[in-house]
Amino acid sequence: MSQRAWVAAAIRKIEADFNRSADTHLIPVDLTGFPGIDVYLKDESSHPTGSLKHRLARSLFLYALANGWLREGCPVIEASSGSTAVSEAYFARLLGLPFIAVIPASTSPEKIAAIEFQGGRCHLVQRACDLNCESERLARETGGHFMDQFTYAERATDWRANNNIAESIFKQMAEEPHPVPEWIVCSPGTGGTAATLGRYVSYRRHDTLIMCADPEVSVFYDGYCAALAGADWRDLTCEGGSRVEGIGRPRVERSFIPTCVDAMVKVPDALSLAAMRHVSATLGRRVGGSTGTPSENADPYFYEEVFHPLLEKLSILDREYVMKDDVEGGLMRAIVQDVPTLDDALHVTEDLLLEETQTVATVEA
Ligand SMILES: Cc1ncc(COP(=O)(O)O)c(C=O)c1O
Repeated sequence: MSQRAWVAAAIRKIEADFNRSADTHLIPVDLTGFPGIDVYLKDESSHPTGSLKHRLARSLFLYALANGWLREGCPVIEASSGSTAVSEAYFARLLGLPFIAVIPASTSPEKIAAIEFQGGRCHLVQRACDLNCESERLARETGGHFMDQFTYAERATDWRANNNIAESIFKQMAEEPHPVPEWIVCSPGTGGTAATLGRYVSYRRHDTLIMCADPEVSVFYDGYCAALAGADWRDLTCEGGSRVEGIGRPRVERSFIPTCVDAMVKVPDALSLAAMRHVSATLGRRVGGSTGTPSENADPYFYEEVFHPLLEKLSILDREYVMKDDVEGGLMRAIVQDVPTLDDALHVTEDLLLEETQTVATVEA
């Protein structure tokens, strides 16, 4: 089969798969302590692979195919903290391509099993900062293609519409009392979701503001502050890896576009975990730490009863919080991005300080 014919057949398979799929849910959350404040959670786990990166994986495959970067029989390689790899393994199998996930050695056995279940092979690396060079090496040696989500997430996703997450949210909000949300809150892994949301609301001329909630061990927040101050931000790095699975990075990834974000907040990991538990209990469905990070902003009960006491306990005087246009307060109407599994989050956060976790559990009880 010619390359042209193979690409056409591959794109058709992905489009047919999409045609068979349904959209993910937008779930209203009842905030009893704050009447009149509407909060919704976008459950990106309800895709065929159960991975919130399904939308991104589809876009990355279509982008790579359209660019002529994928070839019949040649492997696809990706650097991932796990979720993207699960969905990419699915699409690679759909196209009959071998798939290698380059993932940190600390990745949970469940995530590894999920990648293998979709037909992928896992290549473990000890240091998260080696993910990219290992992926490049494997691509060179196997004649494969390194997908590189951290660079291409923002440009592979169609920001004007075409079923991106922003369009999906606004369509699902259409019949709600406030169809145009005041805030949409997300957390950065690649930064691609924040870029898509920011571009979409600008393009559609909505008043919605985009807030990005960064976990403790991550440099996105510092990059954002530096960008606002007009300083160099692209090459900033930090030590260590994020404890909240899927979000937070030790370098400012290429897909992170500060000017697409209206406000950024740095959330302590203990609070992400606390919010994760709170949301899980309130919703009756299990969510992960990266849901807790953005939703920490959303619930006043949580803010008053959990956040402040915990901050005092941790001797952190003020919440680090920075905004692009000096927009004040008003964080209550929000949509958070995704609902991965509690087990994933517990696995990566089990090294959190037990004492803080217990404090939160007491407050919740
Ligand atoms: C669990 C989880 N939440 C949020 C994100 C962030 O999304 P984005 O990569 O679009 O910034 C990711 C991945 O990066 C993730 O794995």
